[in-house]
Amino acid sequence: MECLERDQGLPLNSPDRAVVSSSPLQIMSTVRTVPTTQETAELSYGGKTFQLPLIVGSEGEKAVDIGKLRSQTGLITFDPGFGNTGACKSAITFIDGEAGILRYRGYPIEELAQHSSFLEVAWLLIHGELPAKAQLEGFAKEVTYHTMLHENFVRFFGALPKDAHPMPVCAAAVGALATFYQEAENEETIHKNVIRLIAKMPTIAASSYKHFVGQPSVYPRNDLSYCANFLRMMFSNPCEEFQLDPLHAKALDLLLILHADHEQNCSTSTVRMVGSSQANLFACMSSGISALWGPLHGGANQMVIEMLEAIAQGDGSAERFVQRAKDKNDTARLMGFGHRVYKSHDPRAVILKRYCSEILDRIGPSHPSARLFDIARKLEEIALKDEYFVSRKLYPNVDFYSGVIYKALGIPTNMFTVMFAIGRLPGWVAQWLEMRRDPDFRIGRPRQVYVGATMRPVTPQ
Ligand code: SDX
Repeated sequence: MECLERDQGLPLNSPDRAVVSSSPLQIMSTVRTVPTTQETAELSYGGKTFQLPLIVGSEGEKAVDIGKLRSQTGLITFDPGFGNTGACKSAITFIDGEAGILRYRGYPIEELAQHSSFLEVAWLLIHGELPAKAQLEGFAKEVTYHTMLHENFVRFFGALPKDAHPMPVCAAAVGALATFYQEAENEETIHKNVIRLIAKMPTIAASSYKHFVGQPSVYPRNDLSYCANFLRMMFSNPCEEFQLDPLHAKALDLLLILHADHEQNCSTSTVRMVGSSQANLFACMSSGISALWGPLHGGANQMVIEMLEAIAQGDGSAERFVQRAKDKNDTARLMGFGHRVYKSHDPRAVILKRYCSEILDRIGPSHPSARLFDIARKLEEIALKDEYFVSRKLYPNVDFYSGVIYKALGIPTNMFTVMFAIGRLPGWVAQWLEMRRDPDFRIGRPRQVYVGATMRPVTPQ
């Protein structure tokens, strides 16, 4: 699959281009008629037998509905990390972790990577169908004309420590959008705020970077595409206009598509949990950015490059590092490897690895990224033959190769997770909207198994 020669958008006569109503955020009922079943799961407890109903998904996966478990049996379930717990029904993204399948609204990630653009994918995730040409043009224009930030943000960024990591800066700035747009949430204002979020996130991200490097923010321009605008805001400065390489804008567009959604991961579940209290859109997105920052989640892409650079600057031995990653007494971990859901290859890593080769062929083997890519491929080759990784079904995930491409684009390491957040934003928005429109919507409030002190009187000293 030639990622580089990616056309922008499915053929217009494609039968997939269902015409979606132009009303704001009309969420298409893309939930296929979900198959039902009379099948039940049987639970025997306390001398009684309980029949628990099953729910069947459109891909045939089944879940035990425990909605009445506590009232019927007095029992709750216990599943730290929620590895066996479905939190919602969703029609947005499907992952088959055993088969290495990822689809957005039914479309394979490989085809969207090949044919689509990030804004087209953002529309698809939010509306449920691919946009017609006029809709995509209208959406792109709305986004373009909302990329500027209120001028007060200059003082906002200026008030922060100059060496602040861009992720908390972005989380704070996105949360602060709620102070600039205070209208009560309804269909109309939510539509406007979704546009504002998607439009302003690159401007916030670039400003957080400019703040970090002590340069003035660069204002967006309306004559540039989404990714070209971002790259210019990142790399232009008052002394020198940035010379955009169209290849870099295309590479970034692909990276954003691959990060756009991933069903109920940690940050998306955070967005849903915060949203379940009916907190506003900006507050929920800010919580998603904060959750994504964690090194076990989106922060892993920064850790991967730091790992590769440490190997390159050290003894360069991939073999020795893999041994350390297996050693329980060593804190080293093969960052970018392993996944809660994928127990075979992460299709995004497969696409990114192939794209690394293509983009490095274009920018030349002397680029520092080329050395890091060589080390990454060697680590993967060794790990995939090593019983420790094979037995635990640990494969490269989306973070393993993405940093090599970000570095090839000149994006600094501490901005990698910010790039992940820009990509994931439409997915968080789509999931938040789906939750807010779910007829079963209710505030999230898990139970616990209490293991603390039992009742004891206060004895006055
Ligand atoms: C993302 O959920 C999503 O969809 C997330 C994401 C998305 O798009 O939103 O895909 C993005 O977050 C990708 C993951 C990025 N994180 C990393 O690359 C960090 C390194 N990976 C791990 O820390 C780990 O694999 C997780 C966090 C990704 C998954 O953790 P799990 O499912 O809780 O698995 P685990 O930590 O219990 O690991 C199981 C075993 C353990 O060994 P044993 O206890 O069986 O002896 O595998 C080992 C772990 O020690 N293990 C690793 C390892 N990952 C797991 N050992 C060495 N190196 C690793 N990378």
